[in-house]
Amino acid sequence: MSAHVLAVCNQKGGVGKTTTTYHLARAGIRAGRWVLVVDLDPQGTLTTITAREEVPEDSVSIADVLSARAKEPLAGVLVPGVWDGLDVAPTVGENLGVVRDELVVAGAGREARLREALAPVAERYDLILIDCPPSLDQLTINALVAADGVLIVTQSKQASINGLVKLHETIEAVRRNYRPGLTIAGVLVNQHEQHTVSGQSWLEELRGAMAIIEPPVPKAVVLSDAAEASVGLDEYGSRGANRLAETFDNYLTHLEEAVR
Ligand SMILES: Nc1ncnc2c1ncn2[C@@H]1O[C@H](COP(=O)(O)OP(=O)(O)O)[C@@H](O)[C@H]1O
Ligand SMILES: [Mg+2]
Repeated sequence: MSAHVLAVCNQKGGVGKTTTTYHLARAGIRAGRWVLVVDLDPQGTLTTITAREEVPEDSVSIADVLSARAKEPLAGVLVPGVWDGLDVAPTVGENLGVVRDELVVAGAGREARLREALAPVAERYDLILIDCPPSLDQLTINALVAADGVLIVTQSKQASINGLVKLHETIEAVRRNYRPGLTIAGVLVNQHEQHTVSGQSWLEELRGAMAIIEPPVPKAVVLSDAAEASVGLDEYGSRGANRLAETFDNYLTHLEEAVR
């Protein structure tokens, strides 16, 4: 059995892709999965919170895997994650930004570099989560081409909703050209403010437009605090955090079903 590969996407920054990737990785570990997270955001936030030890700036990283020049096998850049069973394909320094620009002018096959790099290690894992950059660039395209399913993370706000149309078009283009089997595994509404009228009305609008994963992720400081402290929700030690840990377990179940 080869891993289920999920790309966590939205071209908008700050919607919660990295935080969601992090908590889903923990849910995978809780469920006994072998998990690999791939940090495809040049900012490297996911690497900072998921790597067991700080990854030095001059280390080999996912950039060296995707670059046309110094081709490193993916297995050569992996580092241990904060939990047993978790590995991280890290991003450090400025290199991934350089590779992203390189990919813009690269020739045929550039879209499939991540897919090809993952193939030799996919057997080792049950779940591979790719944290995408906040842009519909070649890195995001590489994530989509490598993925079985896309998890769209959004917020229940007008600006977020408008961006979803563009994202859907990109997913459709990737399906048509490179990856017919790519499915939308789910749309997760993050940082939902249950108690505001606008939050509620945007949520209703989203529900009308697409199937979203229920319930939405609430705006909750514990979600950012736990991630920043590299602690799982279930390890955090509060009732609210434990409830959210179970919510993420359910999200993972939903997503795994969707790409089965
Ligand atoms: N549900 C949430 N509740 C509260 N804060 C959140 C939530 N999701 C994300 N955040 C915070 O919002 C900010 C942006 O989230 P992040 O995951 O980095 O977004 P992205 O990866 O899409 O840019 C971070 O500071 C994060 O801790
Ligand atoms: Mg991010």
